[in-house]
Amino acid sequence: MVSESPKVLVKQFFGNNAKSYDKVVRLTTFGRDSYWKEEIIKRIDECKSILDLACGTGILTLKIAAKFPEAKITGVDITEEYLKLAKGKITSCHKISFLLCDAEDLNLDCTFDCITSSYIPKYCNPQILIERCLRHLNGGGKIILHDFTCPKNKAVRFLWNFYFVMLGMIGFFVPSWKDTFKHLPKLIRTANWVEQYKHVMERNGLSVKVQYLTMGCSSILAGTKKI
Ligand SMILES: C[S@@+](CC[C@H](N)C(=O)[O-])C[C@H]1O[C@@H](n2cnc3c(N)ncnc32)[C@H](O)[C@@H]1O
Repeated sequence: MVSESPKVLVKQFFGNNAKSYDKVVRLTTFGRDSYWKEEIIKRIDECKSILDLACGTGILTLKIAAKFPEAKITGVDITEEYLKLAKGKITSCHKISFLLCDAEDLNLDCTFDCITSSYIPKYCNPQILIERCLRHLNGGGKIILHDFTCPKNKAVRFLWNFYFVMLGMIGFFVPSWKDTFKHLPKLIRTANWVEQYKHVMERNGLSVKVQYLTMGCSSILAGTKKI
């Protein structure tokens, strides 16, 4: 069962599998994860500072650093093992710092031109997360959120459900990912995150754009704060 608060699942999903994460996300999304992250990066305007929430092992954070080598980048994650791997990937030429913190409790004494996050929306409360993002976002800045979505097209959704049944079975042979593979589809189905975050962003005066990717299997929501 997916528990009441998706946050409870974070430890269950990511507590014991950081080392295999990069490989698993690549294989289970058939390489689409990399394409989705490129699509996130396309939406980042020229900027001096970027906050990457739920940065995990730093896949997106490092891609951002490659595109914006002069920008000051901060990666935040709640799971220590994931952050350790992210820290291990940076070199002295990177302007990246990492912080162990719950994104919903974030309270830094600085603001950013852009805030990105891949795969955080479904674990958080939209109201709380957007409020934290707005506190840390400069005027004219952008919040770019990405996560899995459940496809709306019936035929695609049938294949999507079938795929997750297969993935659940594969999970029996990969103990550290068993719970994630089992509970992820229900979490994605129930999250309805695009509509919820869009609503909260618009209510806070942001101008919002939605992009559905890979037949609706994932989506990007970008909101720009007025100057
Ligand atoms: C699927 S991984 C994604 C990592 C990275 N963004 C990527 O795309 O490769 C999800 C990450 O979200 C982190 N996470 C979930 N909820 C969080 C929260 N409230 N604050 C910070 N990190 C969170 C987990 O610790 C985990 O590292």
